[in-house]
Amino acid sequence: MKILKGEILSNEKYGPDIYKMEVFSPYIVKNARAGQFVNIKCAPQGVMDPLLRRPLSIFDIEEKFNVFSILYLVKGRGTRYMSTLGRGDGLDFSGPLGKPVDLAGTRNSLLLIGGGMGVAPLNLLSKLGLDAGKNVLILAGFRDSSLLRWERDLVRMGVKYRIFSEDGAWGEVGLLSDHLFDEYKLFADHEVFCCGPEPMLKVLQKELVVENIDATVFLEEKMACGIGACNGCVVKIKTGSGDFDYKRVCKDGPAFKLSEVIFDD
Ligand SMILES: Cc1cc2nc3c(=O)[nH]c(=O)nc-3n(C[C@H](O)[C@H](O)[C@H](O)COP(=O)(O)OP(=O)(O)OC[C@H]3O[C@@H](n4cnc5c(N)ncnc54)[C@H](O)[C@@H]3O)c2cc1C
Ligand code: FES
Repeated sequence: MKILKGEILSNEKYGPDIYKMEVFSPYIVKNARAGQFVNIKCAPQGVMDPLLRRPLSIFDIEEKFNVFSILYLVKGRGTRYMSTLGRGDGLDFSGPLGKPVDLAGTRNSLLLIGGGMGVAPLNLLSKLGLDAGKNVLILAGFRDSSLLRWERDLVRMGVKYRIFSEDGAWGEVGLLSDHLFDEYKLFADHEVFCCGPEPMLKVLQKELVVENIDATVFLEEKMACGIGACNGCVVKIKTGSGDFDYKRVCKDGPAFKLSEVIFDD
């Protein structure tokens, strides 16, 4: 992990309150792996407010051009500041952070399940999975068609996908969690990865435990240091003894076994 400065090549509106930022960074392109993130300083040089960097998944990597991208929703001060940046501006960030997912050790077919902005880390996973010769299927659910542009990326990548939206404006109508098990057998022969809102993850966890199938989940927590030093991002993870340990999302994750995560009620 390094503190880095990268030049922003573009920061385009991708949907309402959603932006895709492309950053020139040979270091990230060379060193980042699936499931990792960067921690971005969200204030001009010399300004320390807000103090904490904001964690964003690496959405895509274009090796040929030494460019990585992030896809982000404007939520509060940090991401609003990011949305004001443009081509030629510098970006102060650290990375790559988090434990990478080792795709070499996975099955030949990947099933990626994403809800809303939870698709961000799955995009790179999908690309690297395809590059590694794996079959990849994405199931993704959204409230509306705000992220419609993402479908162009999926088509370009040549990945198989099924999209659901609650209002029916994009793909099939309905809640992703109602359709997760349309093809139950997929879960038996695919390596499953998921990321999204907690209610969706809880449904998935409950169903998969019954079938004795596990998945890898990418968790999100508010972060401070981003490097495992402050314990600001802990989650409860079951241990073998029926008890649990606190694990840091930034250092021990963000990928965990879904069956081991204890979601607070
Ligand atoms: C490992 C990791 C990867 C992430 N990847 C992405 C990504 O690719 N794209 C993306 O849009 N977002 C991603 N997030 C979430 C993103 O970090 C937050 O949305 C961002 O930090 C909000 O900062 P802000 O200053 O704009 O909002 P703030 O003013 O800090 O917060 C605005 C609202 O968002 C809530 N919030 C802040 N941080 C989080 C969080 N981590 N999880 C849930 N709620 C939060 C706050 O409680 C508050 O209600 C990721 C988070 C983590 C931990
Ligand atoms: S943010 Fe400090 S330990 Fe994770």
